[in-house]
Amino acid sequence: MSNQKRVPVIAGNWKMYKNVNETRDFFRALPDSVRSCTDPMVVICPPFTDLHSAKENMGGSTLQLGAQNMHWQDEGAFTGEISPLMLRDIGCSHVLIGHSERRQYFGETDGTVNRKTLAALQWQLIPIVCVGEKLEEREAKLTDNVVIVQVQRALLNISKELIATIIFAYEPVWAIGTGKTCDSAEANRVCGIIRETVAMMSDKETAEQVRILYGGSVKPDSIKEQMSQPHIDGALVGGASLDPKSFSAIVNFR
Ligand code: 13P
Repeated sequence: MSNQKRVPVIAGNWKMYKNVNETRDFFRALPDSVRSCTDPMVVICPPFTDLHSAKENMGGSTLQLGAQNMHWQDEGAFTGEISPLMLRDIGCSHVLIGHSERRQYFGETDGTVNRKTLAALQWQLIPIVCVGEKLEEREAKLTDNVVIVQVQRALLNISKELIATIIFAYEPVWAIGTGKTCDSAEANRVCGIIRETVAMMSDKETAEQVRILYGGSVKPDSIKEQMSQPHIDGALVGGASLDPKSFSAIVNFR
């Protein structure tokens, strides 16, 4: 089936980069073609400390604000954590869940990914759920298994209606920050497996609505080919999202 009914999404994940002033400067440097873009939809995920500045500097644009993580509880004695309600309150519409850096360094598991995905949906935040295999898993030909299990566990106890609103990001861990992009045809194949798994957990119609992004060393010169793949509905961009020029070139991929 064609992906024409899925509006593509280009999301920038700033990771632990930029302070408040740098955030303001980034938004000031974005051209109108990006500030007013609706196709693709553009989401920027700065660090928590920049969310307020980002929201202010996005004023009057079509840009969407995302966080990089959240806790699953509404509030409580969880020192250092941020709740979905706090993200709503500061103006977020999206939240990254289960990025491989969170899984690798901060003990995030498929179980916490599921709890966070449920909590995000409960508070009308759109989760961008990240999945992907490590290098040794790819070398052992475990890519498909790893991704299928991550998607199945992320979607436990979620209704079809809500599954349709989730965004997935396929980010092979070995392609993140390495300059090695996954071959587009191979990324498309894995995104197709993610879509089949979503269909198994819901139905085909739901799976056709779910947006699946590719992430891992996406650059202005790779985006066009990636976006031409039928199962790839956008990109989750790390390094190249920090510079307004390269990020704009990616958003304006057409
Ligand atoms: P890079 O684009 O820097 O490889 O990062 C990808 C990523 O992790 C986005 O979430």
